[in-house]
Amino acid sequence: MVQRSTSVRLLGALLGLFLLMPVLMAPTPPSMCTPLRTLNEKLSHRRRYMKHNFPVNYTIKVHHEEVFKLSNIRKMKLQVENLEENHLQRMWFLVNHGVLKRIIRVMPERHPSRPYTSELERRLQDAEGVFVQSHPPEFFQQELPVAIQDIWDCLTEESDRVPESSWRFATPKSLLDNFCRTMHCLFSECFATTETHDQLDSSHCRKIKKNVSTANS
Ligand SMILES: *[C@@H]1O[C@H](CO)[C@@H](O)[C@H](O)[C@H]1NC(C)=O
Repeated sequence: MVQRSTSVRLLGALLGLFLLMPVLMAPTPPSMCTPLRTLNEKLSHRRRYMKHNFPVNYTIKVHHEEVFKLSNIRKMKLQVENLEENHLQRMWFLVNHGVLKRIIRVMPERHPSRPYTSELERRLQDAEGVFVQSHPPEFFQQELPVAIQDIWDCLTEESDRVPESSWRFATPKSLLDNFCRTMHCLFSECFATTETHDQLDSSHCRKIKKNVSTANS
């Protein structure tokens, strides 16, 4: 009898620990919200700068992994073991620095969208600076899940060593749409009330999150 109540109490304690875990691992430090909201405001002008200032249907060559969409996040959350939200956040920074570099590279010096894209790059850097400051150095040394490490290696590979089959063509606008939507998904705490046209994506992402956490518990 005594034994049983001890094990019940132990079970209760364990359960309590599990319930606490999501709180302990809150993925987005609040200090990140200011730079991310600034970035979000800049990204709201993406149609003008990334569509109207380019020829119709203009595409650029990017890494397969740089087409980083909500569906990729959803798949990774379901398939990658020991995946943490901030692993995905780290990858989001890497991917989108790469995307902005590629867009800048195709624009002539005096292209009307160049200052805009450079500003996005600076804003992304600001946000990443806060991200780095708000995690202990060990976080950046810890091993990533294998699937994430593989993508990381692809993205940091020298361009001329990337096989032809792993390139994709994408419009600058669609790349920035992904940039914005995945930001709302991965840093959802900062975007409780989002602009209407991104509302759908962001609530879609919350649903995914909930499903995944239910599956885990
Ligand atoms: C642009 O792409 C759309 C959809 O693929 C196509 O219907 C349209 O004809 C294209 N426009 C031009 C100017 O190539």
